[in-house]
Amino acid sequence: MNITVIGSGYVGLTLGIGLSDFGWNVTCVDIDEERIKKLNNGIIPIFEEGLNEIVKRNLSERRLHFSTNLKEAVRGSSVIFIAVGTPSRDDGFTDLTQVWKVTDDLGKLIDEYKVIVVKSTVPIGTTGKIYNRIRELTNTDFDIVFNPEFLREGNAIHDFFHPDRVVIGTESEKSLDVMKEIYRPIYLLQTPFVFTNIETAEMIKYAANSFLAMKITFINEIANLCEKVGADVHDVARALGMDGRIGPKFLHAGPGYGGSCFPKDTNAFSYSAREFGSPLSLVEATIKANDKQKLFMVDKIRRMAGGSLKGKNIGILGLAFKQNTDDMRDSPAITIINKLLNEGAVVKAYDPEAMKNARKIFGERIILCKNEYDAAKDADLLVILTEWNQFRALDLDKLRLLMKTHAIADLRNVLEPMVVKEKGFTYEGVGRKI
Ligand code: UDX
Repeated sequence: MNITVIGSGYVGLTLGIGLSDFGWNVTCVDIDEERIKKLNNGIIPIFEEGLNEIVKRNLSERRLHFSTNLKEAVRGSSVIFIAVGTPSRDDGFTDLTQVWKVTDDLGKLIDEYKVIVVKSTVPIGTTGKIYNRIRELTNTDFDIVFNPEFLREGNAIHDFFHPDRVVIGTESEKSLDVMKEIYRPIYLLQTPFVFTNIETAEMIKYAANSFLAMKITFINEIANLCEKVGADVHDVARALGMDGRIGPKFLHAGPGYGGSCFPKDTNAFSYSAREFGSPLSLVEATIKANDKQKLFMVDKIRRMAGGSLKGKNIGILGLAFKQNTDDMRDSPAITIINKLLNEGAVVKAYDPEAMKNARKIFGERIILCKNEYDAAKDADLLVILTEWNQFRALDLDKLRLLMKTHAIADLRNVLEPMVVKEKGFTYEGVGRKI
């Protein structure tokens, strides 16, 4: 089967590369010529473990192609995935410019039966509108499917080949058979499949991400309360997670969720729900509480730095929105560091992967360090902002020699409070009882 994936960003690339590894002949298309040129030379613009080998393998097998020629790719494929960006405005309105551009292109280009699969996350009802718009532009037969994406950054390859479930929303039997065929390699591995209508599939994507964001926010608020009453959030989360109805995942208290999905999807979901006249009060409260969480972290840092940040040296460990990625989109680090700078702190930071992105975001306003110990040198306070494994094994004796004041704000709860305390540090986690 020949498949075209339109949009070679994070979602499009992992999808296209994964599908080629299933054995399909895949062309990934993008309008960015530079990006396509690099991809054809085996240079992958995203950081994802295991991706390089899969790309190499499928390029050499000639099953994977990168192109800017949409017409040729579409005409030569029976299935077309739309995986272009759907950025969201601050108020939650989703900018569908790229989707409509591709929709119009497809309306003009398709010349025989195609299955068009929407992979981009879109407001509920959009897939139906895409169908109508293409229908207006052509008499050629086609079907439309919504097939949401649940990949986690840093685990995208694993998630692609071992998904918790695959959701396929379509109204047509013919396209359903095509989708089953595409995913046959994992269907055979007994991956659960949910076949449903288009609106339900669109809803599932937003509901899943919003629920996870809500779960994180719940434990963050519990952590804040733990600090007031002398309870320990680790034990609370562990005991909560033992209840099979709740489950142990996504109960790690921290500085608030970030990334390219949760902030955008919760915003878009609540905006869209308001438009339909059925507001999602829990999702709206989640968004507000998550914004507040970052400010609570600034309060904690200020307090630990002695009540004022003016002229204080703050060492920051971790800038990415989570570990194992260089991505800083909506990272809590951005809000927190900007506040520290506004209040007159001097910020020295280190992240194993996100330094290039940090330079783009902060310019010369922060000092970027070569490692964690460099960031800790002469610091009045060390703040752990991302849960990189290497920060779990910090050499505390070395830190004691380097830091001006022995104080650590562990905003990811990666250190053992008693151990840090015993080494003579002032320590605070998020919701940890010492
Ligand atoms: C998420 C969804 O998990 C994925 O299914 C969807 O397709 C895209 O959005 P991702 O953004 O890669 O994936 O990151 P994820 O691992 O889910 O973490 C999101 C944010 O929540 C991060 O900032 C992370 O640090 C934070 N988080 C996660 C917590 O603060 N506590 C937790 O317990 C879990």
